[in-house]
Amino acid sequence: MGGMSPSLDDLPLRDDLRGLTPYGAPQAPLPVALNVNENTHPVPEEVADDILDAVARALRDVNRYPDREFTHLRESFAEYLGHGLTPDRIWAANGSNEVLQHLLQAFGGPGRTAMGFGPTYSMYPLLTRATGAQYVTGTRGPDFTLDPASAAAQVAELRPDVVFLCAPNNPTGTPLGLDVIEAVYGATDGIVIVDEAYQEFAPRESSSALTLLGERNRLVVSRTMSKAFAFAGARVGYLAADPTLIDALRLVRLPYHLSALTQAAATAALSHSTTMLRMVDEIVAQRDRMSATLDALGYHAYESWTNFVLFDGVDDPRATWQALYDRGILVRDVGIPHSLRVSAGTEDETTAFLEALASIDSEA
Ligand SMILES: Cc1ncc(COP(=O)(O)O)c(C=O)c1O
Repeated sequence: MGGMSPSLDDLPLRDDLRGLTPYGAPQAPLPVALNVNENTHPVPEEVADDILDAVARALRDVNRYPDREFTHLRESFAEYLGHGLTPDRIWAANGSNEVLQHLLQAFGGPGRTAMGFGPTYSMYPLLTRATGAQYVTGTRGPDFTLDPASAAAQVAELRPDVVFLCAPNNPTGTPLGLDVIEAVYGATDGIVIVDEAYQEFAPRESSSALTLLGERNRLVVSRTMSKAFAFAGARVGYLAADPTLIDALRLVRLPYHLSALTQAAATAALSHSTTMLRMVDEIVAQRDRMSATLDALGYHAYESWTNFVLFDGVDDPRATWQALYDRGILVRDVGIPHSLRVSAGTEDETTAFLEALASIDSEA
């Protein structure tokens, strides 16, 4: 054969995928990686030991397919979430990205439309388009907030089949009122997905959309173990919804999509949820220190209920991103003018970021 390897243009790729760019947050081996909103604290030692034992036991039966219904894991999620949820109202997959993909495979697809309110999580359009559906973007108000009347009016006008409400929102950190969810639900006959990937970092007294599930059989609340649970590498996401809606997801999932090792690891981790979540308060403290120091440095930190901070007042985000990179610190340029996003790190990482930023300023 030989010759040049073909480009995408030479392949019989689906027309609707031509020109799209894959998800591509840089994965650079820098000492301080604060660019993808991971939990920068490792799984506590005593929990890691227990997870290892559970995975070792699961390995003995790995010649057999795993429990297709991940029964123990669903029971554990129901218990963790509380709110009177039963296992038949729980679904899980390899990261909440796959949970969202299942939802779009069932309720999106050719001829359908999904909607989010930009700027929001960059995977919503990609996941939507990969199922052959269209993605439309609604708008937010000042400081990226969303109010019930505006959100409902936009949904009523655009009539999407699926609505994404990211609560709190990535990449801006913005909280979302339950009144917005209620208003949007009332304005559509479609599926309303509340993506609570960062909910554990919100103030304790704030209410989750789980409180709204009740009889709302088109409402979905999606969560992940990647952030608060420090489990990003294990790939475990989950959702709560009406049992009938969950039956729809069984139509599109691959058989045995959650490996026996994943099920064992996640179930073991959930049995230590208090310990696993121990670092959340520390991360919230670092986030708040970051915001206060950013403001003191002359930037503007947006209100955040997550484990990251979006700040504006950056003259040239690309140049500042590069200057931080050159100092061993990875943050995220999310394409919002004059802004950068940074995840809350450990105390030392947060200090390293803030000092590096201050040193860039003093050179400028
Ligand atoms: C809002 C939001 N939803 C979902 C995800 C996906 O997380 P995972 O697939 O690791 O569960 C992320 C990850 O950054 C996110 O920010």
